[in-house]
Amino acid sequence: MTKEPKFYHPLPEVIQNATVQEYDKTYQKSISNPEAFWGEQAGNLDWYKKWDQVFDGGDKPFFKWYTGAKTNIIHNAIDRHLKTANRNKLAFMWEGEPGDKRQFSYHDLDNEVSKFANVLKSMGVKQGEIVTIYMPQIPELVFAMLACAKIGAVHSVVYGGFSSEALAGRIQDANSRFLITADGGYRRGKKTDLKSISNAAMLESPSIEACVTVKRTGDDVHMQEGRDFWYHDLVCLPISRGQCETVEMDSEDTLFLLYTSGSTGKPKALVHTHGGYGVYVSTTLRMVFDIKPQDRFWCAADPGWITGHSYIVYGPLILGATVMLYEGAPNFPFPNRWWDMIERYKINILYTSPTAIRGLMRFGENWPKKHDLSSLRLLGSVGEPINPEAWKWYFEHIGQGRCPIMDTWWQTETGGFVITPLPITPLKPGSASKPFFGNEVGVVDEEGNDSKPNEEGSLVIKTPSPGMARTILGDPERYIQTYWKKYEKQGWYHVGDSARKDDDGYYWIIGRSDDVIKVSGYRLGTAEVESALVSHPSVSEAATIALPHEVKGNAIHAYVILRANEKPSEELEVHLKDHVGKVMGPIAKPETLTFVDGLPKTRSGKIMRRVLKARALGQDEGDLSTLED
Ligand code: WT7
Repeated sequence: MTKEPKFYHPLPEVIQNATVQEYDKTYQKSISNPEAFWGEQAGNLDWYKKWDQVFDGGDKPFFKWYTGAKTNIIHNAIDRHLKTANRNKLAFMWEGEPGDKRQFSYHDLDNEVSKFANVLKSMGVKQGEIVTIYMPQIPELVFAMLACAKIGAVHSVVYGGFSSEALAGRIQDANSRFLITADGGYRRGKKTDLKSISNAAMLESPSIEACVTVKRTGDDVHMQEGRDFWYHDLVCLPISRGQCETVEMDSEDTLFLLYTSGSTGKPKALVHTHGGYGVYVSTTLRMVFDIKPQDRFWCAADPGWITGHSYIVYGPLILGATVMLYEGAPNFPFPNRWWDMIERYKINILYTSPTAIRGLMRFGENWPKKHDLSSLRLLGSVGEPINPEAWKWYFEHIGQGRCPIMDTWWQTETGGFVITPLPITPLKPGSASKPFFGNEVGVVDEEGNDSKPNEEGSLVIKTPSPGMARTILGDPERYIQTYWKKYEKQGWYHVGDSARKDDDGYYWIIGRSDDVIKVSGYRLGTAEVESALVSHPSVSEAATIALPHEVKGNAIHAYVILRANEKPSEELEVHLKDHVGKVMGPIAKPETLTFVDGLPKTRSGKIMRRVLKARALGQDEGDLSTLED
C-alpha cells in the first residue's frame, strides 16, 4: 500500500487471496435480485429440509426468511463438521488472563456441548424457553450458548460487566427459570464476583428455579441448596452421558435474545433466528474476513455482545474456522498482552474496536515492535467510527502496512456487517466504505430525500436481509415505532446513526443521532443513565450527554438537580457516580457530574440535551425558540 493517498490500495497478494474478487457487478446483481443472492448463500449451509420460499415480506416489517426450512444452527456450527476432516480441527483456543490455556477440537466441542445439553434437558429446560447466561469469557460460556441452541432453547447472554440490577431486569423481562453463571472471572489482575451478583439478581427474580455455576476462580461463594448446582458436578453425572440429539427447528425459530439500549425506556431484547441469522453471519464473515481453513481468527470482543455472538461463536463455527478466545484485559500484565498472543498463536486475522486500539496506542509502538506480527493478514474494526489517527496506527504498527483494515459498520439489530470493505476494496481511513451484498443503504433527510454528496443525513437501510432481528421480545409495537415508523412510507429501516456519503460512494459514519451514547464501543441510553441517577434519594432530576473522549470515543457527562434539602459536595458527586456504576455496571459511570439548579427544557418539558452539549463544547446553541425559559 502507498502512503497518504486518496485510497489505500490492498497489496496484490491480498487481492489474489481474496474470496470475493469483484464488487460492483456482484453488488448490483445482489440488490437487483436479493432472493437469488440469499438463496445461493443459504446453499452453502446444510438444512434438514430446504425452504419453500427464500423471503416472505407479507407481514411488513416482520419479514421472514427461508420459510418452510428445517434447520438448527448447531447442525451447521458443529454436527456437519463431525463428518469431515474438520472433526479433528481446532475450534477454540482459549487463554485465561492468568495464562492458563485450553483447546477444543470440533469433536471436543461436540462432546462438551452434548454433555451440557443433556444436563439442561434433564433439568427441565424446554424448547423455546429463555435461559439467561451471565459469565466471564471462558469456554463454558460458549458451551452454554451452544447447548441451549442444540435443544432448541433460547439463550439470553447478559454481559458479565453488568450489575445485579441490570441482570435482574433482563432475567425478569425474559421470565427465565434458569441462570447459568460462574463464581467469577479474571479482569485486569482482579477477580470479578459474578456469583454474588447473580445471587443478588436471583433474589429479585421470582421466576428463577435453578442456577448452574461454573467454577473459575475457586473463590468461596454462597450456593443455595435446591437452587444452585455446580457445572462440574452436573457434567459428571450419568444424565450427561450419550450423544444429545440436535433438535430440528424451523428456520424462523428464535435462536437467541440480546438486550440493547435504545433512546427511550429500558433495554429491549432483540430476537434472532436459527436460519437467516446463520446464513447472514457465515456469509459476511467468509467474504469480508476471507477465512481460510488454515487461518486462526481472533475476534477480540466479549461473547456477551452481538460481535461475539456473530463473529466469535456462530459465524466462525459455521465456517469450521479456528477461533481465539481470551478472557482478560488487553494490557494485562503489560500493554503487549495482545501482541504477545498474536505472536504465540500466530493469529492471521484480528478484529477489534477503535477504543481498544486507541487504548493500546497510548502505550506507544515499542510494545508491538517487540513482537513478530508477521502472521497477520487482515485487520478489523467495529463498534464506533475509527478516527484516521487510530486507523493509521493500527495499519502501520500492527498490520505493518500489509494488512487492510475491515471497518465493519453494523448493529445488534442487523446481526452482521452491513457497510464494510472487502479485502479487495481500496480503503479510506475512517470510512466503512460500501454496503455489503444484498443491502441497499442510503443517507437521507427527514423526509427521505437523498442527502447531497458529503452532506450529513440520517442513515437508512432500504432492503431487508436475513440477519436482521425479527422483533423486540414481547413488544412488536416498539419494534415498529423504533425502526420502521420514521420512514414508513418508503418502508426503510431507520438506523439512528448520522452519516455522509462522499463522491466515491463511500460511507462515513458520524455517530448516533438519537439519545444513545457509545462509550468505548458500548451502547448505553441517556434515559437509562438518567433513571439510574434519579433512583438515588438525593436526586430530583438528571440529564446526560455524550462528549468526545480521546480513548473512549465518547464519555458520559451528567447534570444533576438535587432534592431541596441536599447540598452539592465533592463527596456526593463521587457517590452518585458510583451509584450509577452499581445500578447499571461500571461502564455506565459518568465521566463528570455537575450539580445544576435547572435544565434547559422545551415547553412540553423535554430536556434539550443538544443545548447542554453545545454549551459544554462552547458551540452555538442553535435554535432556542422552543426553550421554556
Ligand atoms: C452502533 C451499534 C456492531 C456490533 C457492535 C456494536 C456504531 C458500529 C461501527 C463502525 C462507525 C459504528 C453505530 C451503530 N457502530 N460499528 N464500524 N463505524 N460506527 O453494536 O452495540 O448494537 O451498536 O454502533 O453507531 O448504530 P451495537
